[in-house]
Amino acid sequence: MSATLDITGTTRVYGVIADPIAHVRAPIVFNPLFEQRGTDAVMVPVHAPSDQLEIVLDGLKAQPNFGGFAVTVPHKLAIMGLCDEVGRQGRLVGAVNAVRFNAQRRMIGDNFDGAGFVAGMRAEGHEVTGRSVLQLGAGGAGRAIAFALADAGVSRLVIHNRTRAKAEELAAAVSAAYPEIPVSVGAAEPDGCEIVINTTSAGLHDGDPLPIDDKFLKPDLLVAEIIMIPEKTRLLESALKNGCNVQYGRHMLDKQIDLIGEFLGCFQ
Ligand code: ATR
Repeated sequence: MSATLDITGTTRVYGVIADPIAHVRAPIVFNPLFEQRGTDAVMVPVHAPSDQLEIVLDGLKAQPNFGGFAVTVPHKLAIMGLCDEVGRQGRLVGAVNAVRFNAQRRMIGDNFDGAGFVAGMRAEGHEVTGRSVLQLGAGGAGRAIAFALADAGVSRLVIHNRTRAKAEELAAAVSAAYPEIPVSVGAAEPDGCEIVINTTSAGLHDGDPLPIDDKFLKPDLLVAEIIMIPEKTRLLESALKNGCNVQYGRHMLDKQIDLIGEFLGCFQ
């Protein structure tokens, strides 16, 4: 039976805010979890056009049974600016992907992209603390992951990006926030790093180039992806063929769901 059939007056309501809205997946993910865990909660899509965002948020804030929401495109930045409090990763990344209302109905936001990646690695037995990492990519996802890796205490972080200036900007921002972590910009070569993480979008589409030359994929390397579809990207195929350990992209999202659910307080 669908969890949505059990909605009563006591059901706590959560949302996912986006525009457009039809593609959002959070309700499909969270509602079965509420049902499995016996939680009296529902997650609904909240369609908020950008020019109505503040009105929508004011309405949600005014509803005592509305617990919070996941945030997706295009509102991650705008909603950060409207929060009463933002957690450290949200502030560093400059965007929030989850917001909860506290008892005083204050809006508390944070970003779980990077923490989801790190937790996904740990769940698969791949500790990042104390390890040296080459991160490929300095886009939106790469930004969140770089701060989370520094926060987890990697021994060294090397960032490579096709557009070098973006890698330089990100490395400087991570260094400023985590001065104790050695962060540098480098080539797409492991150069002694134990872990290579692909945060670029290269691998999403047939015919995309490999983000790192496969001659560098040696058996002692751990190669991690954040691309979920295809599950086995060309990079992971090459890595497996070369005897590397691999981390699939889906674990980042799985763990983000756990972390966001905990943050929203909707799994209690
Ligand atoms: P997301 O939000 O998914 O991270 P993004 O912010 O557009 O998306 O970032 C995409 C990342 O993939 C960037 O690091 C981009 O490199 P550039 O900054 O040089 O554009 C990287 N990327 C995309 N296609 C690539 C390719 N074919 N080879 C290498 N890097 C690529």
